[in-house]
Amino acid sequence: MERCRELLEELKKAYGREVMTFHIETFGCQMNARDSEKLMGILEQMGYREESSEDADFVLYNTCTVRENANLRVYGRLGQLGAYKRKRPEMMIALCGCMMQEKEVVEKIKKSYRQVDLIFGTHNIFKLAELVYTCLEERRKEAKARAAQKGFKGHMVVDVWEDTSQIVEDLPVERKYPFKSGVNIMFGCNNFCSYCIVPYVRGRERSRKPEEILKEVRKLAADGVVEIMLLGQNVNSYGKNLDTPMTFARLLEEVEQIDGIERIRFMTSHPKDLSQDLINVIARSKKICRHLHLPLQSGSTRVLKAMNRHYTKEQFLELAARIKEAVPEISLTTDLIVGFPGETEEDFEETMDVVRKVGFDSAFTFIYSKRTGTPAAAMENQIPEETVKSRFDRLLKEVQDIAAQLSGRDAGTIQEVLVEEVNGHSQTLMTGRLSNNAIVHFPGDSSMIGKLIKVYLEESRGFYYMGKIAEQAE
Ligand code: SAH
Ligand code: SF4
Ligand code: F3S
Repeated sequence: MERCRELLEELKKAYGREVMTFHIETFGCQMNARDSEKLMGILEQMGYREESSEDADFVLYNTCTVRENANLRVYGRLGQLGAYKRKRPEMMIALCGCMMQEKEVVEKIKKSYRQVDLIFGTHNIFKLAELVYTCLEERRKEAKARAAQKGFKGHMVVDVWEDTSQIVEDLPVERKYPFKSGVNIMFGCNNFCSYCIVPYVRGRERSRKPEEILKEVRKLAADGVVEIMLLGQNVNSYGKNLDTPMTFARLLEEVEQIDGIERIRFMTSHPKDLSQDLINVIARSKKICRHLHLPLQSGSTRVLKAMNRHYTKEQFLELAARIKEAVPEISLTTDLIVGFPGETEEDFEETMDVVRKVGFDSAFTFIYSKRTGTPAAAMENQIPEETVKSRFDRLLKEVQDIAAQLSGRDAGTIQEVLVEEVNGHSQTLMTGRLSNNAIVHFPGDSSMIGKLIKVYLEESRGFYYMGKIAEQAE
């Protein structure tokens, strides 16, 4: 780290610059968002300053590969970056994240995107300082060669690890919000849903030790964080591989004890591992938010089996009913995939049926995307595009209609809002979220950001509420 800072200083002088800047663009899920905060922490410690645009000296894309269009976006953006770089040759371009764990992707970039300076993967983000150092050295050689009027082109630095059992603790972190934070409780995934690439790019499931998690949460609380989101691909299987196994429900109870933390969220819950014990803990808790993201994927038992999800339509319906009975005010959201290989019209109708029966407050709907190396990619009966598109449109409409019917059910009540930011459109309006994740706008000022404020929900306007601070409303 020290050597890195010195080298950066040297380059600043060589380029005649006051500061060297970085910009990180994050694609994909909460895991990547949290990784980016760690990458940011490391770059800040090295002496780089953040810059909001791609005009920076060091541009890093933290990529996602869960669906093919995620990859296509990155290639498109890389083309643009190449043009920037031709204007500013000292610029450095780096790629990391899930897409880089795929060998074919790295080969393609090496061949066709020579503007890239650095590639690393999901398992070695803690090595960022060292990797940037190597790149900067290449730059130094380049600068020297240029001064001596010799041609020299720095090498592309590539360091991608296949998998790791290593968990590196205590990395520096630069949080996006001062008052809320994600906390990784586990990494990787062992579920191998047949359509999903995540287990291949994020490696095997490994849980952090509870004492490390609790230490981090205590530190965050001392730092002013009031809301945390516990992160894992399947939080319900937390702790199974620890030396002293521990359940997710127990971990939640421990986190609940920490003073200063007012709200606890978590993501994602696999239906197959959601225990009654966990439901009871949520029901009893004062801090666990009234929102559960419970990915259904498909409503057809036959398709669920082919997806390797390990639950049936009936089991999902029964689980959703049990959750709603124990926590009636809970908001349930989900993920749905349309057009999985072999999905018939009847299978699709089963999905529509579950959507109608459960009543999700919102749902992410995805068109099935073939991911190389996953079992589903090799399945026969891939569904024609037009059929999938028509099903997707029908599902989206159903999901939106139901969400619209369910929205606004808290209008006329007083609820606690965690104030997140000044509203984009009006400086006198603040925007925050209810425990169930619904958005609320109300008149206030920026001193309220990061605080929990009681708000009277005057009116529902589709997907958000307009409110008033409760004292004023009374
Ligand atoms: N671990 C989480 C989700 C990770 S990926 C879970 O199990 O729910 C987020 C979502 O992307 C998934 O829930 C799924 O709906 C969707 N997804 C994953 N792979 C996909 C693929 N090949 N095609 C379309 N959608 C996919
Ligand atoms: Fe993918 Fe399934 Fe793991 Fe989620 S649980 S990350 S969908 S393999
Ligand atoms: Fe994408 Fe990787 Fe997350 S593939 S969805 S960023 S785990």
